[in-house]
Amino acid sequence: MTSTTETNTQLSAFAQDTLKGLSSQPKYLLSKYFYDAAGDRLFQNIMELPEYYLTRCEDEILRQYAGDLAQYLGEAPFDLIELGAGDGLKTRILLEQFQKQALQFRYLPVDISANILVHLQETLSALWPDLPVVPLEGDYFSALHQMPAAETRRRKLVLFLGSTIGNMTLADSRAFLQRLRAELSPGDLLLVGFDLKKDPSIILAAYNDAAGVTRAFNHNHLLRINRELGANFDPQTFLHWPLYQPTTGHTKSYLLSTIAQTVYIKDLDVNIDFAAWEAIDMELSKKFDFAEIESLAADAQLKVLAYFQGQKQYFTDALFIVE
Ligand code: AVI
Repeated sequence: MTSTTETNTQLSAFAQDTLKGLSSQPKYLLSKYFYDAAGDRLFQNIMELPEYYLTRCEDEILRQYAGDLAQYLGEAPFDLIELGAGDGLKTRILLEQFQKQALQFRYLPVDISANILVHLQETLSALWPDLPVVPLEGDYFSALHQMPAAETRRRKLVLFLGSTIGNMTLADSRAFLQRLRAELSPGDLLLVGFDLKKDPSIILAAYNDAAGVTRAFNHNHLLRINRELGANFDPQTFLHWPLYQPTTGHTKSYLLSTIAQTVYIKDLDVNIDFAAWEAIDMELSKKFDFAEIESLAADAQLKVLAYFQGQKQYFTDALFIVE
């Protein structure tokens, strides 16, 4: 890498993280930046792919166990908080069931995208005008802090669905759960979606779909750097290469530069050199076993109340209680 730019404190977090990742050895990009408007759309497409079993498995679980979940909640009013709510599609199953059972609750979707929250609130108020929806914009913890103190005394059910926890390293997910636990009170509940270790060919296919949507999703990260930072990546020279490591449960996605090349990032005035077949580490999607989930729970002083699983046992929504 050669740079003529002085360190610029005005750079956006995206610019700084991109510069740091592409200047590292090995190179990496942070998977949280997959989700610009184009990335959001591509992820919606991924969720509908025949190979991407995760979403269907979790839908099946929520449909099947929404009633059981309601039984853990009791009669008192509670707050249903969803971390990374997105379009809230999967949560609608729970919202519908909880309302059918006349449970008293407010829905607090947390997301970093203000746009997505506005859209979600509009959709939900059209569907259920009486459902109190309180969108919280920001990262997970700052949003939890936005909740007025008096209201935080209500019991909470926190949702962290879709195996988003798998996009963190095990050490980071341990720290995340511990930090989340510190925001909660005894009796509060936490429902976390974990994708489970299984036949590697099923896992790999989910990240290497025949239609090439996951490849486009990865390429979009390079295109985002082109769009937002004026780079000249040619995605066609980067091969999408997912791998599954069965001992760690790590599903990794890489982009490999098929040729030796130099990419220029105009806004950073920086050249990034790639050797032929050099990799960019793009994403971790960890698959779990129950021993790992138990250990995460124990370290965060959470007690496992139930593992909800669908027919195929590919995925689990684990219900934890704060003791
Ligand atoms: C959002 N997250 C849980 C997805 C996953 O499975 O890791 C993102 C994704 N990446 C490629 N396909 C889907």
